[in-house]
Amino acid sequence: MNKNIIIAIDGFASTGKSTLAKCLANYLNYTYVDSGSMYRAITYYALVNNYLPFNNRNLKDFFKVLADVKLNFIFNENLGFSEIYLNNINIEKEIRSILVSNHVSSVATISFIRKHMVNLQKEMSLNKGVVMDGRDIGTVVFPNAELKLFLNASAEVRAERRHSEYVKQGVKVNYEEVLNNLRSRDLDDSSRTDSPLIVADDAIEIDNSFLSMEDQIFFVKKILKDKFNL
Ligand code: DC
Repeated sequence: MNKNIIIAIDGFASTGKSTLAKCLANYLNYTYVDSGSMYRAITYYALVNNYLPFNNRNLKDFFKVLADVKLNFIFNENLGFSEIYLNNINIEKEIRSILVSNHVSSVATISFIRKHMVNLQKEMSLNKGVVMDGRDIGTVVFPNAELKLFLNASAEVRAERRHSEYVKQGVKVNYEEVLNNLRSRDLDDSSRTDSPLIVADDAIEIDNSFLSMEDQIFFVKKILKDKFNL
């Protein structure tokens, strides 16, 4: 049995994809790739270099610089997962800001940006056991992934979760703002022309509105054992 399977985890924002993915990657000793952080990093780059909002002219300039923007992940032993670096600078904290969150979905609609990201994601995963989470992992990046999971939860439950994360971090933002941001990202993600967020035919759907993370981990570990002997 080939132990190096690819696990693709897709789903709506704030459904706990990255928590589940990190846990499975640690369990299997696999590489974890947070593809959303790559779109966030590019959005952050576009913001700090004054490319946003995009228009026909600066989009052409952005196309030219994109290949030279260096994105990579470096494993942080203390945290137990990889952090994202933009041109050798750790931007893990910066990419989680509300400003980046408000712009990332529109940046992620641009086809040449998606193409570039998909190529990088495929390169990162060559011959490795990988758990990757995002929106198009099971449909576009790894249509042949051995295990595909699709996570969902009600918008209110997700906004509640995201809001309490912000509160813990000391970020001042109200629940309504978080809920609106989530709703508009859901719409952007699922209605874009290129690689919309859809459930792959062979994905296992998990609605975790009322499921704990432990329940989900238990469920997936059982699949890994029964189906892949892992
Ligand atoms: O998972 P996240 O919230 O950090 O993702 C940020 C945004 O990036 C999300 O609104 C949609 C986009 N994204 C995408 O289009 N494709 C992916 N594979 C991952 C994220």
